[in-house]
Amino acid sequence: MARRTANGREADGADAELPSETPPGPDGLPVLGNVRDLVADPRGFYEEMSEYGDVVSYSVPRMDFCTVLHPELVERVLVTDNDAFEKFGFEDLGGDFMSEGLLLAEGEQWQRQRLAAQEAFTPERIRTYGEAMGRYAEEMVDGWTDGDVVELDRAFSRLTLRILSRSLFDLELAADAEVVTEMAAAINDRGDLDGVSTFVPMWVPTPRNRRFRRAASTFEEFVDDLVAERRGSTDAYDDLLASLMAAREDGGDLSEAELRDSMATFLFAGHETTSLALTYLVLLVAQHDDVRDCLDEEYATVLGGRRPAVEDLPDLEYTGRVVDETLRLYPPAYILFRTAREDVELGGYRIPAGTNVTLPQFFVHTDERWYDDPGTFDPDRWTDGFEDSLPEYAYFPFGGGPRHCIGMRFAMQELKTVVPTVLQRVEFELVSDPDPELDMAITLRPSDPVRATVRER
Ligand code: HEM
Repeated sequence: MARRTANGREADGADAELPSETPPGPDGLPVLGNVRDLVADPRGFYEEMSEYGDVVSYSVPRMDFCTVLHPELVERVLVTDNDAFEKFGFEDLGGDFMSEGLLLAEGEQWQRQRLAAQEAFTPERIRTYGEAMGRYAEEMVDGWTDGDVVELDRAFSRLTLRILSRSLFDLELAADAEVVTEMAAAINDRGDLDGVSTFVPMWVPTPRNRRFRRAASTFEEFVDDLVAERRGSTDAYDDLLASLMAAREDGGDLSEAELRDSMATFLFAGHETTSLALTYLVLLVAQHDDVRDCLDEEYATVLGGRRPAVEDLPDLEYTGRVVDETLRLYPPAYILFRTAREDVELGGYRIPAGTNVTLPQFFVHTDERWYDDPGTFDPDRWTDGFEDSLPEYAYFPFGGGPRHCIGMRFAMQELKTVVPTVLQRVEFELVSDPDPELDMAITLRPSDPVRATVRER
C-alpha cells in the first residue's frame, strides 16, 4: 500500500519512512476510554489534551481518535494529504441517513454530486438569491412588535430554512417546516456528546435512536413526495433540485436515494449552521455597544435605512469583520471529522489506518499562539495585516480542501444581507444568559433557547 512521508509524498511500501511511535495522550479507562472526561467537559478535555502536544490520542468506546491542534497539520489533513483521509463514517451515529448525500458521500459518488450541485453555487447564481434573503428577513421583523420576547435561535432557524428552500428548491416551506426542524433536532440529539449513549450503535433501540428513526422516515417521505411532484410536473425549474435531477453520468440520473440524501444534506447543512451564526452574532452584538455603534455608522453611510442589495455587500466591511469574529468564537461546525484510510505520518507520529482524526475549530480558533486575547470578541482584530500574518488554517470555519463548504458564499451573502436588514430596524435586549451553556452536538448550539426582547428603533 502507498504510504506517506512527512512532507506528504508517497513512498511505496516504505514503511521504514513512517515513524513507529503513535501520538501520546491522556490515559483512559478500559472499554470506556476517555468518554467520561470528554462528555463531562469537552473544552476542558481538549485543554488537557493540548498539554500532550499538537497531535494527541484518545479513545471512546469502540473507536480510536486523535486530535490535531496545529494549523499546518490541519492543512495537511484537509488539503495536502486529503486523499489519505476519508469522511468519518457517521453511519455509526446516524444509520444510513444522508450517507449518499454530498456531505458524507465519498469518491466517484461525491465527485458526481459536487459537480451537479456546483451550478447552483456559482457567484452569479448566488446573487439571484439575494432578494429573497433580504425580503424574508424583513418579513420576520414585520412579524415582531416592540416589547416581544423572541427565541432568537428558533426565529433564525425558521428564517434560514425559508431562504434555503426558496433559493435551492423553489419551495415555500413554512407549512412543512416542522418536518425539517424535527429532523434537524433529532440529528443533533443523536450526535450530542452528553452521554455514553451517543456511542451506542444505531441498531440498538434506545429512545434516542427510535426518535431519530421516526424523524428520518417522516423526513424521507417528505422529500420523496417533493421529488415525485417535480418529476410529474411540466414546469421548468432553474434551481439546485433541477440541477441534481438533471445530473447525468453514463446516461443515468442520480438515484432516488442520492437525490433524497442530497436534499436532506442541503436542508440540514445549510440552515442550522447559518441560523446558529446569526444567533451568536446577535448575542455578541447585544453585549458590545461599541460594536453596535460601528455597525450603525456603517449602515448610515452605506445603506441609509435601506435593505442591502447584493451590490452593497462589498461596502459592508465592518459587518464582514463582525461575521468573521463571530465564526471564530462560535464556529457552528466546531469539529471536523476524518478517518485515516492508510497509515500516515502527522507531526512526527504514525497515525494507523482506521484512526478517527478530529480537527477542532473551536480550539484552534482560540489558541493564544495565533490570537491575542483569544476569548475577547474584537471584530477590529481582522485587519488586512492580521489576516496576512495568520497561518492559513488557524481559521477554517468553512473547512478547506476539496471538501470545503460548498455553501460558503451563499452563507456569507445571507449573513451580510440579513444582519443589516434586521439590525437597522430593531435592537435586542438579552433576556437569557449572555454566556449561554453550549451543547457540543453535531453543531455547536445553545443548550436552551436564546431569548431577547425586541425594541423597535
Ligand atoms: C455559517 C454557515 C456555514 C458554516 C459555518 C458551514 C461549515 C461547513 C464546513 C466546516 C464544512 C466542511 C465539513 C468537513 O470538511 O467535514 C461544510 C461542508 C458543507 N456545507 Fe457548509 N457551512 C455553512 C453553510 C452552508 C450552507 C448555506 C450550505 C448550503 C446552501 C452548506 C452546505 C454544505 C455542504 C453540502 C457541505 C459538504 C460539501 C462536500 O463535502 O463536498 N453549508 N460546511
